Amino acid sequence: MKRIGVLVSGGGSNLQAIIDSIDNGSLEAEIAVVISNKPGVFALERASTHGIPTLVIDHRGFAVNHEFDAAILKVLLEYRVDLVCLAGFLRILDRILTDAYPNRVLNIHPALLPAFGGKGMYGHHVHEAVIASGTKYSGATVHLVTPETDIGPIIRQGIVAITDTDTPETLAEKVLKIEHQIYPEAIKSVLEERIIIDGMRTRENLGRESK
Ligand code: GRF
Repeated sequence: MKRIGVLVSGGGSNLQAIIDSIDNGSLEAEIAVVISNKPGVFALERASTHGIPTLVIDHRGFAVNHEFDAAILKVLLEYRVDLVCLAGFLRILDRILTDAYPNRVLNIHPALLPAFGGKGMYGHHVHEAVIASGTKYSGATVHLVTPETDIGPIIRQGIVAITDTDTPETLAEKVLKIEHQIYPEAIKSVLEERIIIDGMRTRENLGRESK
């Protein structure tokens, strides 16, 4: 059974979506450990409720990012994690982690990358920028996290239409529903090794191509 390590910083609704997809049998995997960089976040409660081991590795306790990431990597290896999933995790990873898990670190972003991504684009900031831009569609993106850029090859996206009455709050709600749908699907494809990466492009091997 493949083992997932989930990194969180907040409410953990994406963690919950992964838990639920395992519980309902649509995702065959095990969450080996949930690591939060912040104590007391609801994501930790969600994990504990399901008997999933949790740890807090507080980034404020480390002089440099590298040591923080090394501490996370040590735990991931101890728990024999195969795939690392960032789920509302608000720290940028040092390459020590992405080097140890090549094409095995996923992140979910609440917009259609590469638009509305990069520095400062997280949480409500994303939806405010999207609404202000006048774009007619938004959505969510699951992508690989690579050492070079935070935004690596895109694995899966889902879109939502933006109405004239949408606000950043109503848009956030719509996008979160998409996130909860596409993240478990993307994890399943990666764990089943069906994703073929070609530069920044990916395609899914639905069984017609030899690996
Ligand atoms: C979500 O919008 C997600 O896209 C972003 O963090 C937000 C909170 O996620 N990465 P969660 O509810 O903590 O999973």
